[in-house]
Amino acid sequence: MLNIVIFGAPGSGKGTQSQKLIDKYHLTHISTGDILRSEIENQTKLGELADKHMSKGQLVPDDVVIVILEDLFAHKPNKVGYIFDGFPRTLPQGKALSEILQVKSENINIVLSLEVDEDVLTDRLIKRGQVSGRNDDTAETIKSRLQVYNRQTAPLKEYYAQQNKLVNIDGMGTIDDIFTRIEKVVDRLDY
Ligand code: AP5
Ligand code: MG
Repeated sequence: MLNIVIFGAPGSGKGTQSQKLIDKYHLTHISTGDILRSEIENQTKLGELADKHMSKGQLVPDDVVIVILEDLFAHKPNKVGYIFDGFPRTLPQGKALSEILQVKSENINIVLSLEVDEDVLTDRLIKRGQVSGRNDDTAETIKSRLQVYNRQTAPLKEYYAQQNKLVNIDGMGTIDDIFTRIEKVVDRLDY
């Protein structure tokens, strides 16, 4: 199986590049952010709880997202592989993901970390906020999402570097140029 974690700050292009990876490698997309937004839209109890955190740019508690991940993984069988987008975001989530995969004798093959300057991230998200209706794409919330990323999520890079799984990808430039960099890394993998 080919199991990829697509990693990076808010606006780094995780969702955009995931779509291209899915098209080329036939992977299943697992995005905790997308699921949480659909729970909010459907006005579920989970959505209500998630919205309290997401609208402030804070993380939804680990126990909540880990259950979502387990559920998604169980209900979306794919023998080819998965792309994990926006999960893990903390060390406990990283450990939970390994355990969930281990049950199936699987593993993360690679962690692709999209590296983008903060001013570019902010520009992209402000621009999207003007059309998307995502209530976390406002100047103030973007700032707190970036802080949360730097404090709580970026330390996971060290965790994956120690496992020799981390590859930094230059996430600046056109969408296609970035995907070309990603393809080069993925096509070298032995899976
Ligand atoms: P999540 O949905 O994961 O959002 P995020 O990490 O903040 O990132 P985005 O989805 O905004 O950006 P992206 O990296 O996917 O970039 P995209 O391709 O869209 O999480 C949202 C919230 O949910 C979190 O804050 C948290 O509260 C909660 N949550 C989710 N998962 C959680 C977890 N595991 N634990 C706890 N809480 C969790 O691109 C961004 C924009 O830029 C788009 O408009 C795109 O068109 C554009 N763009 C992309 N690439 C380029 C390029 N090369 N050039 C120009 N524009 C580009
Ligand atoms: Mg996204």
